Amino acid sequence: MKNIIDSRKLKELYLEFFKQKNHKVISNSSLIPEEDPTVLFTTAGMHPLVRYILGQHHPLGKRLANVQKCLRTDDIEEVGDNSHLTFFEMLGNWSLGDYWKEDAIKWSWEFLTDKRYLGIPKEKLYISVFAGDKDAPRDDESAKIWASLGVPKEKIFYFPKKDNWWGPAGDTGPCGPDTEMFYDTGKEPCGKDCKPGCSCGKYFEIWNDVFMQYSKTAEGKYELLKQKNVDTGMGVERTVVALQNKKSVYEIETFKPIVDKIKEIAKLGLHDDKRELSVRIIADHVRTSTFILAEEISPSNVDRGYILRRLVRRAIRHGKLIGIEQEFLDELVEIVIDIYGQEHPHLKSNEQFILSELKKEELKFRNTLAHGLKKFEESAKQVKKIDGKNAFLLFQSFGFPIEMTVELGKEAGIEVDEKGFDEEFKKHQQISRVGAEKKFKGGLSDASELTTKLHTATHLLNEAIRKVFKRRDIIQKGSNITPERLRFDFNFERKLTDAEIRKIEDLVNKQIKKCLEVVREEMTVEDAKRRDAQGVFEHKYAERVSVYSIGDFSIEICGGPHVKNTRELGKFKIIKEESVAAGIRRIKAIVE
Ligand code: SER
Repeated sequence: MKNIIDSRKLKELYLEFFKQKNHKVISNSSLIPEEDPTVLFTTAGMHPLVRYILGQHHPLGKRLANVQKCLRTDDIEEVGDNSHLTFFEMLGNWSLGDYWKEDAIKWSWEFLTDKRYLGIPKEKLYISVFAGDKDAPRDDESAKIWASLGVPKEKIFYFPKKDNWWGPAGDTGPCGPDTEMFYDTGKEPCGKDCKPGCSCGKYFEIWNDVFMQYSKTAEGKYELLKQKNVDTGMGVERTVVALQNKKSVYEIETFKPIVDKIKEIAKLGLHDDKRELSVRIIADHVRTSTFILAEEISPSNVDRGYILRRLVRRAIRHGKLIGIEQEFLDELVEIVIDIYGQEHPHLKSNEQFILSELKKEELKFRNTLAHGLKKFEESAKQVKKIDGKNAFLLFQSFGFPIEMTVELGKEAGIEVDEKGFDEEFKKHQQISRVGAEKKFKGGLSDASELTTKLHTATHLLNEAIRKVFKRRDIIQKGSNITPERLRFDFNFERKLTDAEIRKIEDLVNKQIKKCLEVVREEMTVEDAKRRDAQGVFEHKYAERVSVYSIGDFSIEICGGPHVKNTRELGKFKIIKEESVAAGIRRIKAIVE
């Protein structure tokens, strides 16, 4: 096997290979899915392509390939083992209603084993396919194709949905059975049941070919999509581990300099398992935080900002665990930017922001960490269970995310009342933790109170602009909502005057004062159009859509969430109006 393939070379080879199979290379999308305000992070390469998987024509055709940066926090507990990361790069090739299982599988095999590409010895590879259930049949077709390529039957495993089914990325949408390729690290099996998918780390999943032919509905049904799509995902870091015969992702060239620096700062020797775990957690979390910060997200108690805060604070606590008492994150961030800056220039252009936000957060948390830990220890000595009140106190006074208190509890062998924490939380009317928790499970919709208000305000704004200019051709060109503000793009050829901005604001506030009811109905896309519902992204919608009307003022296709009555919104205020592209204006607004 060639052992010189590093991450960069792997990406190059992959894109080259699929170009030869007539794929067009598409760009690496932002970690913040721009078009979909209900999803927090890009969790997979397929995410920015959902609308094309549903049937919209892609300008570059039916065969696409790319490298996509992804962020997933559902595996955060596993971070520190040999293969799980919160941020990773994923190689992908797609068929949008074009080739199907046979080509997808053959090409995967060719790329993995052919000496001109990865040249992985065939005997190192294991395969899994979908075992079938009430929703979809057993995938004998894929198994047959693998067998025809020479994979012995005993190396092909049938697994259920929890292992061999991918998607949807959110609650509903495209999904399907998949076939996964595992690399045998050569480690001894952990027992007689050890097989691909086993958590002992003998087998690394390196590639996943998803056959997206279903769409999961809100009722939990699996309906056939208009077209059969292939969505494949190959984890860059894991594959490089396999190619370089390393033991873990922390040893490859994109991690080693970070890991080495952490060990240097902590003055650690080699082989200290407990500390090694902390080193790995810090390395992973700092890298992920750098990429979130590069999207100009600041640490906060809600949504993306909360995920960022949780990662940064966990890294700082693990730093303390291995003896780092001083500020140290900036040194690590610089290494991350060094490693990735060329391929991801936004890391470089946002370097100042990244460093200053991180510094603020580090200082803030360092101030309270030691006291908080003392408080935790005192409580832990006295009681068998940290109750909701104490967990909340640790959150509010010492900035401990609940997940951190739970982790401390685990280390001390003491339970933490998470439910009690949630109750305290609600009482204090802070963020909806349910919302925050859902996000960690893979980027689902954010239903925090503020965001919900801003969703409804966006509908009012959308309609108000058309009414003020008496023009129906002005439509939404983009929308993005965080708990801090809404952002709304629309087609308009010039700067808005102050008077026009005031008029729009006034019209929105008038609707708020009218206490209009917000009503949700379900109907077909055609019916929605007949009723003149707004909806620029029809292509993304399933056949039946949910439509929100606000009194007689606005009607729009939308997945929500929304408030029940406009009186909940308070006062609407436009804080910025600017240009984003030729003929496109952007408004940022808040409710207070
Ligand atoms: N969507 C699949 C995954 O993320 C394949 O790209 O694994």
